Amino acid sequence: MAVIFIAAWLIGFYSGNFLSYEVDGSFKGDVIILHKNIATTIIFLLVVRIFWRYTHPAPELPDTMSPRMKTLAHAGHLALYFMLIALPVTGCLYSWSLGYPAPVLYLFNLPALISENPAVTAIVKPLHIWLSWAVGLLLVGHIFAALKHHFIDKDHVLNSMTRQSKSSKK
Ligand code: HEM
Repeated sequence: MAVIFIAAWLIGFYSGNFLSYEVDGSFKGDVIILHKNIATTIIFLLVVRIFWRYTHPAPELPDTMSPRMKTLAHAGHLALYFMLIALPVTGCLYSWSLGYPAPVLYLFNLPALISENPAVTAIVKPLHIWLSWAVGLLLVGHIFAALKHHFIDKDHVLNSMTRQSKSSKK
């Protein structure tokens, strides 16, 4: 899921900040469509992920971490989950409010929950962009924290993030 999320982020970031309809024409449209087709899968993966979390509790954080650091790590994880929900939701609302579909893997469109509505666009467009910037910062923080655990603290946190099924059995 992390790979798909980061791919969706990079494609959205590329389209939003490096492409314009004036210069790039229909290529920008194609890139946005690719962004949507990848990003909508996060909604389905999230349902599986939440079910998995309930049946397979997260591995314990190492005792070398102070209670404050553990609280910070939990807060960071909660924030990431919130973003995982909020980004696809605002993205879909953004598309529907412009009268465009929210396609999934070029296979089908999610049923539109709202019709074209510029007033909704005015709210969800900046929300989607701000959230995407906030999640970018969170992801960078997450990656640095994982690297610090591996190279400085030399604990099992990075391994348990990449090979969760094995370490959660410990
Ligand atoms: C994993 C979920 C998602 C992530 C991480 C994400 C990330 C991003 C990012 C980084 C941008 C560029 C923001 C900027 O201008 O700086 C963006 C733009 C955009 N996103 Fe998403 N997004 C997600 C889901 C969706 C979904 C589900 C849709 C619609 C079905 C969507 C539709 C759009 C649209 C239409 C833009 C504007 C692109 C442009 O103006 O070139 N996004 N998104």
